[in-house]
Amino acid sequence: MKCALVTGGSRGIGSAICQKLAADSSYHILINYQSNLEAAEETLQKVIDNGATGELLKFDVGNADEVKTVLGQWQEANPEAIVEVIVNNAGITRDGLFMWMSQEDWSQVINTSLNGFYNVTSFFIQKLLRNKYGRIINMVSVSGVKGTPGQTNYSAAKGAVVAATKALAQEVAKRNITVNAVAPGFIKTDMTGDLDEKELVKMVPANRFGEAEEVADLVSFLASKKAGYITGEIININGGIYS
Ligand SMILES: NC(=O)c1ccc[n+]([C@@H]2O[C@H](COP(=O)([O-])OP(=O)(O)OC[C@H]3O[C@@H](n4cnc5c(N)ncnc54)[C@H](OP(=O)(O)O)[C@@H]3O)[C@@H](O)[C@H]2O)c1
Repeated sequence: MKCALVTGGSRGIGSAICQKLAADSSYHILINYQSNLEAAEETLQKVIDNGATGELLKFDVGNADEVKTVLGQWQEANPEAIVEVIVNNAGITRDGLFMWMSQEDWSQVINTSLNGFYNVTSFFIQKLLRNKYGRIINMVSVSGVKGTPGQTNYSAAKGAVVAATKALAQEVAKRNITVNAVAPGFIKTDMTGDLDEKELVKMVPANRFGEAEEVADLVSFLASKKAGYITGEIININGGIYS
């Protein structure tokens, strides 16, 4: 059984990625989520509706012990299963000006995006190397590429994943493993639900927020065999804000 794991797959961009991979590939979809079981179940149903199989895996990507335990138990129960695609998508924001930013808001954002990338990817990396094939796709952000005021924590977390993407890509390229990052601008999800879309859209040359499905299409391509010669790239998908 060949599998694709999507962290933060219950809602938003992650959910769209699960559905797109279900439609475009023959992977068994592993849908990770943290707390929203109802949304995760909805995503699983849509994966099935798209003709694929899948299952839910509940863990906090930022909790190293939990990641090891849950993934370890899953791998033990499915010894033949090979995870070929890892989409490190789980992420949170805790926005605020740096001068007022609490240690907790700093740490939580770094822990979810950056340590989440480490915890999940390191569990699988030796298996991918032995298998001599893999696709690792990291969800970063325009904030991690250009920096966004009010998001010093988030920009730092995503910027660190940008650098990790470039470094790891060079380590594993010989074994047919690609490592890329996708950097969205404003995408319509719960994360951007409270933003003033009318005002912010003025910054976007395309004059609209993006759809989660548009990001999922890009991820699905990077996860496919067709994208084998693209690695170490940070691909912007932001309606022209920045590149
Ligand atoms: N929306 C945008 O405009 C935008 C722009 C640039 C980058 N991004 C990035 O794209 C990714 C997805 O964003 P989104 O807009 O789809 O966010 P979202 O709608 O807030 O969904 C977040 C997803 O991540 C999961 N999650 C959060 N913390 C987690 C943790 N510690 N462990 C496991 N899962 C966790 C949530 O699970 P539960 O359902 O269980 O809570 C949910 O499935 C993030 O990395 C975000 O930084 C988003």
